[in-house]
This record gives sequence, structure tokens and C-alpha cells, in this order.
Amino acid sequence: MNWESLDWEILDRLREKFLSGSAAQGPYWHTITDLECYDFTYGERIGWKWDAVLRELKSRGWTPPGSEAERTSAATATVLDWGCGSGIAGRRVIDFFGADNFAELLVHDHSALAMDYAEHRAKQTFPKIAVARADYRALEGNAPLDLLVISHVLNELDPLALAQLNALCARAKAILWVEPGTHHVSRILGDWREKLRAGGMNVIAPCTHQHACGVLAAGNERHWCHFFANPAANIYADSEWVKFGQRAGIDLRSLPYSFLVLDRRASTMPEGFSRIIGEARHYKGYAKLYNCDAGGVSDLMLQKRDAPALFKALKHAHEPGLQKWTHENGRITRVETAEPQS
Ligand SMILES: C[S@@+](CC[C@H](N)C(=O)[O-])C[C@H]1O[C@@H](n2cnc3c(N)ncnc32)[C@H](O)[C@@H]1O
Repeated sequence: MNWESLDWEILDRLREKFLSGSAAQGPYWHTITDLECYDFTYGERIGWKWDAVLRELKSRGWTPPGSEAERTSAATATVLDWGCGSGIAGRRVIDFFGADNFAELLVHDHSALAMDYAEHRAKQTFPKIAVARADYRALEGNAPLDLLVISHVLNELDPLALAQLNALCARAKAILWVEPGTHHVSRILGDWREKLRAGGMNVIAPCTHQHACGVLAAGNERHWCHFFANPAANIYADSEWVKFGQRAGIDLRSLPYSFLVLDRRASTMPEGFSRIIGEARHYKGYAKLYNCDAGGVSDLMLQKRDAPALFKALKHAHEPGLQKWTHENGRITRVETAEPQS
């Protein structure tokens, strides 16, 4: 697939499906070309969100269960990409951590066409990994599952699918889950966090703590946990991407996402870190931000004169990461350091 062979009618139809909510009415992939066009454009954009999440996991020192640090012989870990579509998420994850760390990739979708495409692409990309459709035992059995990858499905699931996903989460050693950064979907993902945390999972990200989600606390209904990823470099200078953005009605600079990373192994995140929800808003001499830490969420003000370098960094970075600061009465009083070192 390339920009010349891209079928805009297919992209328009998919866009209409995603925006109208009718994607929840059943499989919508009609031909392999649908998946090729999706993977090249919408899917690639979702890939940039995954890149941001994976970069963050690396900076937190997180590695998937069964990866190099934990084994002495060949990799045995299985990844299940559930609701795979074109399979962009599973491929991004395996590529990032290294194909040598995985023995098997299973794909599942209620569209057989999607599974065909995802399977084919993954086999091409990772010739040494066993790639297959998840069978009944993988989906409905009770054996532990190494890594469950979920991406952009919450808008489309019926109660039966939600029940299957729930059972899979309960069997997973670790879960990597990325969704759109909308108010509605992010808060649903927050509910999953709470449910899975109660079921014994540790929260690796985005949270800097293991306590109840502050955004979901009473009084915070208008808020939602979301972040902004950077698109691939030089995208704005690429006339084809610019044309795609205009036609699809997408602002390429804004890549909002929500995500959740859970693990049965304890988090190695040191205590005392904070995270900015959304983005800081800059004014003359100060910035306002919505802060999340172990104490909950709150609006904070950062005076430029108190931390000029950080003030500037927050203005320019889309992925500002984690902060260590103290705050009193809505004001950041002392900035210690950014980013826990792994
Ligand atoms: C928006 S696409 C996302 C695809 C891919 N995960 C990604 O991030 O690019 C949603 C996918 O979920 C699949 N899906 C929807 N309902 C499903 C269900 N009940 N069981 C399995 N897959 C489902 C759709 O067929 C579609 O491939």
C-alpha cells in the first residue's frame, strides 16, 4: 500500500463507521484493501500512540513477562492481540521489545478478514515467531496468558465480547491497553483499572500510585485521564499526511489517547511521583495543570520563576512524562526532579 493506491472511498466509509458509532453493529471490514488502507493511515496513527506508551514503559524500566531479564533459555512468551483489526498494536509491541522475547503471537477479531490480514502481516514481519489465530482454548480456556494487547476496541463491544475480554484480563500476567483519549472511553478504561486492580493486578502506568483513581472520585466527573502523543517526526511536512489529515478531518498535531498497563508483578515505580493529566496550560508567568499523584487529582499552578526550565519544557513537550514536586494550597512549591530513572 502507498499513497497512490490508497482508496479514499474506503477511508471515508471507515471514518463514518468510527464517528457514527455504527462500528459497534458488527464486522465492517469488507475486503483486504479495507485493512490495508486502515493500516497505512488510521492504524499508523494508532501506532504513534503505542510508540508513546512503549517509550514511557521503557523509561519506567518495565519489560514484558518472560522477556530477557527473566529467563535463561529461549523465549516462551505468548502475546494475544484481541480485537486486532490490521494487527498494528501487536506488531508495535513485539517490534519494540524485540521479537526474540516472544515465541508466539495470537490474533483475535470477530472479523475473519481482519485476522487473515493481521496474521499475514505479522508472519512477514516476524518470521521467527509462531503467528496464529487464537483458538477456542486460547480464548475460553483458563491457562495463564503472558501478555494481552488491546487497542481501540471499547467503542465497539457488546456484552458478550466484554465478558470474554474480562475473562482474558483475569488470566493475563500483564495487559497493555490503549484507547482514544475521549472523555467517554477514558472513564470506561478507568473503571476497568479499578476492577482489575481489585482482582490483584498492579498498575504500572499511567498512574504513579496503586491507590483508587482520583479522576473517578466524586466531583471530578468532568475530568478524564488522557494524554497526547507525538506523531512520527516530520509528519507536518509530508504533503500526503497533511492531505490525509484534511480529508479525514483529523488534526495531525493532536494525538489524544488514554491507556492502561497492568501487571501481576509488583510495580517498580518509586513513590512520590506526579503526572500531568492532559496538558499544562501556559499563561504569562505561570502555568496551570491538572495533577495526579497518590493523594488524588487537583488543579495546580506552576510559577515560571520557581522552575523556568520545567516551565519551558512543559510548553514544548507533548509527552512531558512524570514529575517529582511538592504542592501546597494549589501551588507547586518545590520541583525536585523529573522522570524516575530505570
Ligand atoms: C477500531 S478497530 C481497532 C483495531 C486495532 N486493534 C487497532 O488498534 O488498530 C476495532 C477492532 O475491534 C474488532 N471488534 C469489534 N467487536 C469485536 C468483538 N466482539 N470481538 C472481537 N473483535 C471485535 C473490530 O472488528 C475491529 O477490528
